Amino acid sequence: MLKEKEYEVVKKACIEDSEEAVVFGEGNLDAKIVLVGEAPGSKEVELKRPFVGQAGKNLDEFLEVVELNREDIYITNVVKIRPHRINEKTGRKVNRPPNKKEIEKYSRYLLEELNIIKPRLIVTLGNVPLKTLTDNKEIKVSEAHGSVIDTGDKMIFPLYHPAAVIYNRKLKSVYLGDLLKLSKYINGSMR
Ligand code: URA
Repeated sequence: MLKEKEYEVVKKACIEDSEEAVVFGEGNLDAKIVLVGEAPGSKEVELKRPFVGQAGKNLDEFLEVVELNREDIYITNVVKIRPHRINEKTGRKVNRPPNKKEIEKYSRYLLEELNIIKPRLIVTLGNVPLKTLTDNKEIKVSEAHGSVIDTGDKMIFPLYHPAAVIYNRKLKSVYLGDLLKLSKYINGSMR
């Protein structure tokens, strides 16, 4: 089956499997690099696109440092719906981390996306995609960030999640250092 067709089948199955609005991945199906985040937030659900809220602004900075365009890569999340709870006072939705059930359910679709695209490098943003794609519950982004992990069938470059860098300013220089290492890797081993 054609790649595009196969992709549409997976996307459709994911939407049909969900009771809430799905934010599927988007980008170049021939991308050499795929970025994987945790889960969409409210802006992402509103626009039905990954990484368009505040975390998306950080992502643009990221792409600039590593000299990549959004059109060259593919961007997705482990979980394709917005994990939320309802604030009792305001009645509004508040983000929460994805739970085990959501991660298990949606990681199947993530693996299918990756199987279609077959990228040479997967950049994980934060702990959720790192643990999911290495299939290792013990691994931590605070220890693994900034160098390539070869799982045997995938090359993974773990980075902190852009939101963590917003909340913890001390991580900013570490994050920038990691981006430079990533840039070197892309321009060295991948060209
Ligand atoms: N937006 C996304 O699409 N994913 C994240 O992990 C964070 C914000």
